[in-house]
Amino acid sequence: MAPEADHDPENEKNPPPLDEDDIALLKTYGLGPYSESIKKVDKEIKGLAKKVNDLCGIKESDTGLAVPSQWDLTADKQMMQEEQPLQVARCTKIINPNTDDAKYVINVKQIAKFVVGLGDKVSPTDIEEGMRVGVDRTKYQIQIPLPPKIDPSVTMMTVEEKPDVTYNDVGGCKEQIEKMREVVELPMLHPEKFVKLGIDPPKGVLCYGPPGTGKTLLARAVANRTDACFIRVIGSELVQKYVGEGARMVRELFQMARSKKACIVFFDEVDAIGGARFDDGVGGDNEVQRTMLEIVNQLDGFDARGNIKVLMATNRPDTLDPALLRPGRLDRKVEFGLPDLESRTQIFKIHTRTMNCERDIRFELLARLCPNSTGADIRSVCTEAGMYAIRARRKTVTEKDFLDAVNKVIKGYQKFSATPKYMVYN
Ligand SMILES: Nc1ncnc2c1ncn2[C@@H]1O[C@H](COP(=O)(O)OP(=O)(O)OP(=O)(O)O)[C@@H](O)[C@H]1O
Ligand SMILES: [Mg+2]
Repeated sequence: MAPEADHDPENEKNPPPLDEDDIALLKTYGLGPYSESIKKVDKEIKGLAKKVNDLCGIKESDTGLAVPSQWDLTADKQMMQEEQPLQVARCTKIINPNTDDAKYVINVKQIAKFVVGLGDKVSPTDIEEGMRVGVDRTKYQIQIPLPPKIDPSVTMMTVEEKPDVTYNDVGGCKEQIEKMREVVELPMLHPEKFVKLGIDPPKGVLCYGPPGTGKTLLARAVANRTDACFIRVIGSELVQKYVGEGARMVRELFQMARSKKACIVFFDEVDAIGGARFDDGVGGDNEVQRTMLEIVNQLDGFDARGNIKVLMATNRPDTLDPALLRPGRLDRKVEFGLPDLESRTQIFKIHTRTMNCERDIRFELLARLCPNSTGADIRSVCTEAGMYAIRARRKTVTEKDFLDAVNKVIKGYQKFSATPKYMVYN
């Protein structure tokens, strides 16, 4: 349309009535040439997306619950009222298994044993001997198979979210990382190599070394790296009040580990339970020792090509029981020594990465000034340097701060260092 035609004064006074063509033309105002087809495709995509979502079913969130917008509380409540609570029983025996008239012997604790059939919702393949099952309260029919009972405190040890430590955050320790990866990652990623050669891959690794040399740190990096389930146990968690509790926890721990596709069990500070056995002179045996023996037992129990790997860390390897350390149980022993000059420089760089430092600080010089110090010492130097900067109300950390910090930490805290003691005992 020509613009002059719009401003024609005669037309302005009594505009001609709009006909259908004009209306169609007006409707296209603001639309591009392809908008029609785009709209159509949009609609199709939406339809498809809905279809896909319907086919997928309800998408579950990380917690295992549906998203709150999809909750239907009233219906759930009603269902709960209609449904009878089930009772927990154990299926002790299956009579005539794999036939149509299979019967199940169940044992309801503190009531009796029954021979029962299956409910409508369970298939015979779901039920095995020795399994925990849910039975109804009237006919005692098996209604659902239940997972094995595992202590909640054991379940809590699984590391759900991955730690944010990567191999890049571990300074030095090249050899240790290499050894660790060989044992942990290789059998999980390429089991066929071991099968071909006919050897069993090592089941476990013991990390030992002076305090603060990065044993726990490296284990966290391994946890971050692998997709396997990572279970972290602190040795002292397994020391319990009652006799047999610790051993039971170990058993349940490995039971849980076996139920996973791949699993790494990390015992930190094993010296809490792995101490060498001794006679305490009273004649009673020690509960802690029994817990340790259960670990030994479990280490023997699982197949080396199975997907459980055991890592242990300690800074007093001399106190551990020889039975725990013998080849075949913990085959690999990785020593974490004091970092050398290059590693120390690297550790300095790692810990100052997030700090607001002056440019061109001579890290190598600093590393040279901290002989015989561990990663934890170096980290402390960095923190201390930051404190000096804060005290002087500066926004950046200078090299002088670092030098002061070295003086304070390395020279001043030498008394507290546990490294010499470690050196004596090992
Ligand atoms: N090689 C390293 N690279 C970077 N940081 C390190 C290194 N070694 C130690 N650190 C620092 O020291 C801290 C303590 O290390 P870690 O917890 O691994 O010590 P550990 O060997 O487990 O000691 P312990 O035997 O007392 O448990 C770490 O959080 C880390 O910041
Ligand atoms: Mg540690």
